[in-house]
Amino acid sequence: MLFFLDSADIKEIEELLAFGIVDGITTNPSLFAAIGGDFYKIAKDICSAVDGPVSLEASSTDYNNMLQEGEKILGIADNAVLKLPMTWPGIKACKYFSDKGHRVNMTLCFSAAQALVAAKAGATYVSPFIGRIDDTGHDGLNLIEDINEIYMNYPELNTKILAASIRNIYHLHQVCKIGTSIATIPAKIMKQLLDHPLTDIGVKKFSEDWKKSGLKI
Ligand code: E4P
Repeated sequence: MLFFLDSADIKEIEELLAFGIVDGITTNPSLFAAIGGDFYKIAKDICSAVDGPVSLEASSTDYNNMLQEGEKILGIADNAVLKLPMTWPGIKACKYFSDKGHRVNMTLCFSAAQALVAAKAGATYVSPFIGRIDDTGHDGLNLIEDINEIYMNYPELNTKILAASIRNIYHLHQVCKIGTSIATIPAKIMKQLLDHPLTDIGVKKFSEDWKKSGLKI
């Protein structure tokens, strides 16, 4: 099970990389917009900081511009992964770059049919958005289960599910139970992974007992 960090904030990325649990990074145009600055410079810094794959999203919506932008994004570093939207121009560009041996992450996936098309077009990753489906009153985790079952039925499809739009620990827990290869997690949720009141109480008690005892290391 791989954990990717969903962030374009280099400080946040470096802070969490230090714990040894981050296997890659995903970004999107909204995350970059929140940071501001020079996209290519920040993207290069992120790629240098991380050993694993870094998904960088094309902002174009038409095929020709996606190809131009895709070449630039993939030229940033060897670990750059091109993120493309789940549209017909996106699928066509996915086929183009996948055939050339590049890794493509098809994003904004909201149906099993979309995940199937992305896999047939050679995507390395497909990113179903759990939280955004939940926001519409449906269960985003059902989509992960459906895509997982479909991909398992056809082992010739090599696309990995990259569970995205994870909003809480329960989402992460459930995608791990389903057996998803990768989850991309925002920093806020990643930092909650160790939260447990009994751990806090235990640490406090051990520390107090040690101080009271007068023992020394
Ligand atoms: C993943 O690739 C996306 O950037 C991200 O998970 C979207 O999450 P959100 O729906 O919380 O914005």
